[in-house]
Amino acid sequence: MKITIINGTEKHGVTYKLKEQFLQPFKSIAEITEYYLPKDCPSFCVGCTSCFMKGENTCKDFSYINAIEKSLLEADLVVMTSPAYVMHTTGAMKALLDHFGYRWMPHRPAPEMFGKRAVIITQCLGAGAKSTAKDIKHSLSWWGISKIGVFKSALMNDIIWDKLSEKKRKRLTKNINKLARKFAKINYAKPARTKLITKIKFKLCRFIQKKVQKSGMGGLDCKYWQEHGWLDKNRPWKRK
Ligand SMILES: Cc1cc2nc3c(=O)[nH]c(=O)nc-3n(C[C@H](O)[C@H](O)[C@H](O)COP(=O)(O)O)c2cc1C
Repeated sequence: MKITIINGTEKHGVTYKLKEQFLQPFKSIAEITEYYLPKDCPSFCVGCTSCFMKGENTCKDFSYINAIEKSLLEADLVVMTSPAYVMHTTGAMKALLDHFGYRWMPHRPAPEMFGKRAVIITQCLGAGAKSTAKDIKHSLSWWGISKIGVFKSALMNDIIWDKLSEKKRKRLTKNINKLARKFAKINYAKPARTKLITKIKFKLCRFIQKKVQKSGMGGLDCKYWQEHGWLDKNRPWKRK
């Protein structure tokens, strides 16, 4: 199986430690590709909207985005990690997620995403892990991923792993191991079941694209929906 990891920080801190612990059951069975931000996507989206209007290949950062996207599409499991920075995901992770705006469901979602699983690993000192996880989950779910596991925690007493109380370290390790076991048990040969909420979101987007098609004003997005047969009977979660 293939795992693609996007790390929202280059720091080898607590988030890194937890991610490494999560990977333990996968190390001998998976081909793991990791990206570290901002190193692997050091540029911001400038809002030119070229990805939406003319195609993602016209983005000034296409070389970074294309490499990461190829890896995401090939992955059986996507892992996204980020500590909480001012109650949210790191700026580097947000900058990457902005670049994938064109992959949101109302635009040009990748069919591969609908059968995928993902895990979000986040932690903070006191508060903000929940909103950090939500920042990432928002994009993943609108990319079409239904099965998303979340690890979130607040360290409370220190920010350095080795300085945390033993009780805290044990609890964090136990909880991340539990999530890892849950995801290691999955048969990745079978695509994940698409949830009802994902199907409802898709239906809403389809309704919009149908209207656009009818108006005759359809651009790249509408053409993409037509080509995939989604304005007819085909659906991204139906395997041919
Ligand atoms: C810029 C910045 C902002 C932060 N904002 C928060 C915050 O809003 N809430 C919180 O509990 N911790 C906050 N922290 C602390 C980190 O989330 C915490 O130390 C975390 O354990 C760092 O993870 P790391 O070791 O993987 O870098 C912030 C840290 C930085 C550097």
